[in-house]
Amino acid sequence: MIIAIDGPAASGKGTLGKRLAAHYGYRHLDTGVIYRAVAKALLDQGANLTDEARAVAAAEALDPDSFSDPALKSQTVGEAASVVSALPRVRAALVAFQRQFAATLPGAVLDGRDIGTVICPDADVKIFVVADAGVRAHRRTQEALARGEAADEAQVLADILKRDERDKNRAAAPLKAADDAHLLDNSHLDIESGVRAAIDIVEAVRAGRQSRP
Ligand code: DC
Repeated sequence: MIIAIDGPAASGKGTLGKRLAAHYGYRHLDTGVIYRAVAKALLDQGANLTDEARAVAAAEALDPDSFSDPALKSQTVGEAASVVSALPRVRAALVAFQRQFAATLPGAVLDGRDIGTVICPDADVKIFVVADAGVRAHRRTQEALARGEAADEAQVLADILKRDERDKNRAAAPLKAADDAHLLDNSHLDIESGVRAAIDIVEAVRAGRQSRP
């Protein structure tokens, strides 16, 4: 089974993805981390973030072992990832890796922006997570502070809104819900309630499938 989770920055989709994967014994891929790794490679090289040839080279040279680098979580790298991910050839270079991950047994949960629309349009279950921008900014600020980074909530909110706009309005694989995605509003749910709501969606889809003639 493939579960696709999409949604805007800091909507909680990563936590939901990780918890759903643990619940079902599946593998989990946070696809944002891939774009973050490409962006960090360019930042480290001092390269321009819109240099498509260099970004493609970085995407092709990616080492999945680097995905756990804590430096990928920073606000700066997230913002840079949003810029790099708008480049169509960068996205194209990363499709095969994501699809291969999704297709490997026993099953996979992928979260990102275009999983249900582009990477896995035939996913068994698609969930589109939304949450109020203010709630997302508050969560991101708390996470940054917990990591020991300085974070100003008003600035985090402004960054999130800018990133939403860029991710939604780019030409290549923009952030949007697939027509057959189930909407999960995570604004006022704590982690356990959000996970429960996501499992309920998966179970409802499975039950519907089993009862089909
Ligand atoms: O989910 P995140 O904040 O780690 O994602 C960082 C950026 O990467 C995000 O602003 C847009 C991009 N991204 C994407 O374009 N497609 C994905 N499937 C995942 C992330």
